Amino acid sequence: MCGIIGYIGEENAVYFLLKGLKNLEYRGYDSAGIAVLSDVIKWKKVAGRVEELCSRVNPREMSGRIGIAHTRWATHGAVTERNAHPHFDCTFSIAVVHNGIIENHRHLKEILREKGHKFSSDTDSEVIAHLIEDALLLNRDFVSACMHAFSSLEGSFAAIVMKEGEHKIVGVRKDSPLVIGVSARGIFLASDIPSFLEWTNRVIYLHNYDMVVVDADPAPDACGDVRNVRDMCDVRDVNNHCGASHCGALSALTEKHASIRIYNLNEGLVQRPVDSVEVDIEQAKKGEFRHFMLKEITEQADTIKKAIQQDEETVKNVIDAIKNAFGIFFIGCGSSYHACLAGSYLFSRIAKTHVNAVLASEFENYEHFLTDKTLVFAVSQSGETADVLDAVRVARDRGSRVISIVNMMGCSLTRESDECLLMNAGPEICVLSTKTYTSQVTLMAMLAYALAGNYDDFVSEVKRLYLDIYNLTSRTMRERLCEVAKMLADKEHIYLIGRGLQYATALEAALKIKEVSYIHAEAFAGGELKHGPLALIDKGTPCIVFVSKDNASKIISNAEEVRARGGYIIGISSVNYDFDCWIKVPDSDMLNPVVQIIPVQILAYQLALLRGLDPDKPRNLAKSVTVT
Ligand code: G6P
Repeated sequence: MCGIIGYIGEENAVYFLLKGLKNLEYRGYDSAGIAVLSDVIKWKKVAGRVEELCSRVNPREMSGRIGIAHTRWATHGAVTERNAHPHFDCTFSIAVVHNGIIENHRHLKEILREKGHKFSSDTDSEVIAHLIEDALLLNRDFVSACMHAFSSLEGSFAAIVMKEGEHKIVGVRKDSPLVIGVSARGIFLASDIPSFLEWTNRVIYLHNYDMVVVDADPAPDACGDVRNVRDMCDVRDVNNHCGASHCGALSALTEKHASIRIYNLNEGLVQRPVDSVEVDIEQAKKGEFRHFMLKEITEQADTIKKAIQQDEETVKNVIDAIKNAFGIFFIGCGSSYHACLAGSYLFSRIAKTHVNAVLASEFENYEHFLTDKTLVFAVSQSGETADVLDAVRVARDRGSRVISIVNMMGCSLTRESDECLLMNAGPEICVLSTKTYTSQVTLMAMLAYALAGNYDDFVSEVKRLYLDIYNLTSRTMRERLCEVAKMLADKEHIYLIGRGLQYATALEAALKIKEVSYIHAEAFAGGELKHGPLALIDKGTPCIVFVSKDNASKIISNAEEVRARGGYIIGISSVNYDFDCWIKVPDSDMLNPVVQIIPVQILAYQLALLRGLDPDKPRNLAKSVTVT
């Protein structure tokens, strides 16, 4: 989804912004743009990749210490240079980048047009610049004009604006992510932490309706309401301490430093703490790997161990909450939903506890079953998925308790949850979920075992799995799967079947194949084949079958039904049940959803390569889907 970044500091903003945009690419986008402020605002936009933008920006022609940039994932208006951000007011002296959807943009545009404003794009975002321009006409200063403009927006938005003649950037967020990065080289506002992680791990998380003003020319009496950056960076040479008893900030701000003020549009001036993120920057780099997807697949031997390193007290609270709940839901989107489905089987099989797995986007249909006794597990890698956040709000409105399972610390979802379990998988940069999917499933298995009083056995099982996963991601296995991929690369359709836990795996496997190779892949519960899908089977149609020892006979019969109609059977199991092609994986009982998905992750990766596609950035998709 759209990514935004702003920079204000000592150095040329162009470098930080273009590099920051590259770091945001993983979110998914179709166009990009940058604007830099010196005396005037200069900008460049492309309906294409960030590399193209980089090649069109000449740092000699475009430089300045303040700037904003954007990767756009089109929602309103086609993928064109004209619709790429930044967007401007009528005089092109106010620039804005925006992520989210301004739901009342039509109404606002009408009013602004009546006042004579001329729009240059088809986007909803452009209204922000014109609203600020309009507010300035009423003799407001830039900051209060921004405040005024932001207050009239409905929908979801994270936006950053700058204006000629103002040495500041102003950001705002509501239901779309925006974080501040505090570094000695400058201040960043961005959609997520990886965009600036190589310069700082010190972050300020903004809350809904927070508006931040980062000022390169802070007022000399800026005490109390100005949080000095040097102070926050732990710079020790404090020469000019403000003597006021109420204020721990520096009062004399040299030109070297910017200041940060945070206002909440509802509450006025607020203080937000500076946190340190414990993420190793190397984790967000490809290292020796060609693609993040492969790197993240091979990390799984470690990440599933990290998934179960949870604070005992938190796990105890979660288990108590499960025991006391009347009605439990697991909700998520995409791969996270598939983990929820696997989780519902795990809870049933291991802990004999009933859980409803529901797509977050469908959850509102269940609202009449929600009470203050209901427990909702919101599962999301990013913790920013708009459908999940909406669903959580539905639950909270009904007084239900919310426990989140997330990977990104400080994300919006954690702030809307009563308890939070972190996956500890490290940054996942590839648009496709791989390691975080297996972490989610592992965490759910952990909860089910803890609920059943078998936590210790489970921990030994996960430790044992390390070697299995290591082998499954080895070069030998990758080469073997490359051979299988060669057989499948030209196919139009691939079907996948499983029962129980293996049905959840089949769904996730189909998603992996289709999103990265663009081959139509569809999963069915084995028992459903005879109710329709068998009609699709033709001579040579590939069908991947997931088999667990405990339910082998039924699914093997289903596979035979497919073969009898000409289908080509690829089995993923510990035993070769006379498959046309066998991919051997160890049988890991309740943890089969973790081990059996790995060969298909690799297969999908190989298919993408064979079809000349970039596995890290599938077309039309976004890592963090911040619109509903
Ligand atoms: C997007 C991603 C998927 C992901 C889904 C849910 O569609 O492309 O890979 O599974 O969002 O994301 P979340 O961050 O909520 O787990």
